[in-house]
Amino acid sequence: MNIPISSLKNTHFPVMLDEVIQICNSINKDKIFIDCTFGGGGYSKELLKFPNIKVIALDRDKSAIEKAQLLKKKFPNKFSFYNEKFSNLDKILKEETKPDVIIFDLGLSTFQLLDYSRGFSFKSKDRIDMQMGLSFVSAEEVINTLGEKNLKLIIKILGEEQEAGRIAKNIIRARENKKIDTVTELVKIIESSKKKNFNKKINVCTKTFQALRIFVNKETTELMEGLIKATQLIKSGGKIIVISFHSIEDKIIKYYFTNYSSNKSNPSRYLPSESNKKNSFFEKYKNNFLIPRSEELLKNPASRSAKLRYAVRTDQPFVYPKDFKEKFRKYTDLENVNI
Ligand SMILES: C[S@@+](CC[C@H](N)C(=O)[O-])C[C@H]1O[C@@H](n2cnc3c(N)ncnc32)[C@H](O)[C@@H]1O
Repeated sequence: MNIPISSLKNTHFPVMLDEVIQICNSINKDKIFIDCTFGGGGYSKELLKFPNIKVIALDRDKSAIEKAQLLKKKFPNKFSFYNEKFSNLDKILKEETKPDVIIFDLGLSTFQLLDYSRGFSFKSKDRIDMQMGLSFVSAEEVINTLGEKNLKLIIKILGEEQEAGRIAKNIIRARENKKIDTVTELVKIIESSKKKNFNKKINVCTKTFQALRIFVNKETTELMEGLIKATQLIKSGGKIIVISFHSIEDKIIKYYFTNYSSNKSNPSRYLPSESNKKNSFFEKYKNNFLIPRSEELLKNPASRSAKLRYAVRTDQPFVYPKDFKEKFRKYTDLENVNI
C-alpha cells in the first residue's frame, strides 16, 4: 500500500538546512537556485523566502510532484519543478540560464524510506523494489536474476560489505527453491549469512541494502554526471553544494572538488604551472567539509552520517573531465552490469 505523502508531511527534517542557507546567503541579487533533489521540498521552501530569486527544482521520484505542485501554487513565478534525474540537468535548463547555486542532497528522503511498499527499509515486509524513480530495474529482479559473481561484487564494492561472498551464495541458494519476493525473506538470508557484525552501530542488513539501492538507481553514475553537468552550467563565482551520506559518495565528491580546483599541485615540474589552470574549475579546495551540529543530531539522528562539501566555480572554461570518470570506473562499470 502506498502511504500518501501528505500523511508523512511532518516527518522530514531537511539536513543541515541552516548551513545550506548560510552558504546561499552570500549571493546578493537576482539569484537562480537549482535544488537537484527536491524530496519534501525542505530546501526549496526556505530558498523561496529570498527576495529576487528563482528556484528550479528536480527529483526523479514522481511522489515528489504533489509537494512541488503546492509550492508552485504559492510561488507561480519563482518556482518550477521537473520530474527528472539530475544527470539530465542540461536538458531542463535553458541555455541562457546560469545558476548561482546548485544543491545536491543525496540519498533517500524520509518519505521514501517510510513508505514500506517501496522496500527501501529493512523494516518493510513488502516487495523489494528500491526504485527511486526513472530507474529500469527493481532490486527484486536483481536478486532473483543476477549471477553469483556479479551479485557478490555489487554487495562487496557498492555496499563495502566484508561478508558479501556468503550473502551472495545464500541468495542464490534460497532462490533455487523459491523466488525471493519480500524484504522479510531477504533480511532473513542476510542475517543468517553474517558471522560477525563488524560495526555494531548499524543493522547487519544496512550494507547489502545500500549496495542494492545504489545499483538499482545507478547512484554513482548519477552523482558523477550531476557534478559534471553542474560544473558546466553554473556561473563563475557560483557554488555547488553537495550533502552526502556514505563513504563512496564522499570519496567521489572530495576527489572531484580537490582535483579540479586551483590548489591542485603541479603534476610535473617540467610543465609550466599555467597548464595546471586548464582544469581548475573551482577555487582553492582543501578538503573542507561541515557536519551536522549537536542540536541537529539530537533533533534528527538520521543526519549523523551527513557531510556537506561545497566548491566555488572559477571562470576557467569547462573541459569534459574524462579522467574523473576513469578514476571511479569500478563503480560505474558495476552499475552497468546487464541483468
Ligand atoms: C535526501 S532527499 C532530499 C530531501 C530534500 N532536500 C528536502 O529537504 O526535503 C533526496 C531526494 O533526491 C532524489 N534523488 C536522488 N537521486 C536523484 C537523481 N539522480 N536525480 C534526481 N533526484 C534524485 C530522491 O528521489 C529524494 O527525493
